[in-house]
Amino acid sequence: MQKDDVLRLFHNPDLILPMQQNLLADIAAQAASVNMPCYVVGGFVRDLLLGRPVKDLDVIVEGDAVKLGDQLVKKYGGKLTPHFKFGTAFWHVPDSEQIVDLITARSETYERSGVLPVVTPSTIEDDLRRRDFTINAMAIRLDGEHFGELLDPLNGRSDLEHGFVRVLHDRSFVDDPTRIFRAVRYEGRYGFKIESATLSLVNAEALEVLAALSGERLRNELDLILDEKNSARILFRVASLELLKRIHPHMPEFDQRYAGFIEMDNRLDIPADRRTMGYMLWFMDLSEEDIFLLVNRLDFSNEMSLAVWAASQLKRGLPHLMGSTPSVWTYALEKLPLLSIYAVYLVAREDALLSYISLWRHVKPHTTGKALKARGLVPGPRYGEILTRLRAAWLDGEISDKVQEIRLLESML
Ligand code: CTP
Repeated sequence: MQKDDVLRLFHNPDLILPMQQNLLADIAAQAASVNMPCYVVGGFVRDLLLGRPVKDLDVIVEGDAVKLGDQLVKKYGGKLTPHFKFGTAFWHVPDSEQIVDLITARSETYERSGVLPVVTPSTIEDDLRRRDFTINAMAIRLDGEHFGELLDPLNGRSDLEHGFVRVLHDRSFVDDPTRIFRAVRYEGRYGFKIESATLSLVNAEALEVLAALSGERLRNELDLILDEKNSARILFRVASLELLKRIHPHMPEFDQRYAGFIEMDNRLDIPADRRTMGYMLWFMDLSEEDIFLLVNRLDFSNEMSLAVWAASQLKRGLPHLMGSTPSVWTYALEKLPLLSIYAVYLVAREDALLSYISLWRHVKPHTTGKALKARGLVPGPRYGEILTRLRAAWLDGEISDKVQEIRLLESML
């Protein structure tokens, strides 16, 4: 690719925001002033060449990235979070949400499969060679007269053009089996194919290392898949590669009938969370024992575990609630996370669940504890009983105005 073509992409505000363009120019100028070769890499280059808006700014230098970060903060402000051990730093750019990842070019060696690698400072070529796929192993140089030079020693561009996800060497998945999930994610996101020799490396050895990965690392990969637009389809592919059973023998496939429900519908004023919704839909039909096993295996937070468990309990309990009065529904549902109720509504289409979400949960009597005290009632459990009874009367249509409420209240005192 000619330098001019790269420059044209670089100056396209639909791909790189003007603010990001300025930022890269500042970094490039600073790196050039201290003769430090400096590059953008990874997903940035991949997405730019695909004509897609870039997300993260990952900058690699052949030199000390923390030192460069310090100089940038001195000159432009903002804050630096350095990690001296890895020679990396986050630059929190002033007056913006933008964070730039500054990285010292490095090579990596895996002492054991599946554990994090040992890193040593090195050249940009070595840094590209430590990466997962050819499409992620390209760099564009930023400093001085080199600005716009594409570095593509592993032929990533050709794979980008032909739509192939290809590893850089045969041990890639054994070194780091999370890359198998990443490969499937790129297939789904870009409509690519895992190249056939690469696919054959999803073999018994790699899958054995995958099975031994920590719950946190595996969940992180599943989280990223749930963040994708095509997550259900990607999970279908994950299942067809037998990856799920390696995570845990009881791990189910994602029910494709629920695919459309992962997209959150914000109209109901429920805080949107794709991941929680995804896991609830995925696990809600499992037995309580299996849910327990999986939330442990995947190291779910308490909140996530509760959401999944509540959705499964509610779905199972629906037949018993069917035909109940609004007050019975409301008291049964009130203890459950709203998002769990919504997930069950999406799959079961039980109208009472929607009525609860949009109406019933907001129904409260006019009478308050304070009002009961003013009437001379001694504070105690009776307060709760009275207020619950009044609320039920509103919910079930026994009363429909304040006068009726007072009348009912007085009949109870
Ligand atoms: N990388 C890798 N092996 C991994 C994870 C990441 O080699 N297991 C490398 C890839 O070169 C990747 C870069 O680190 O491009 C940054 O990783 P990440 O931010 O996770 O990926 P992005 O390329 O930004 O892609 P995505 O859009 O999926 O976030």
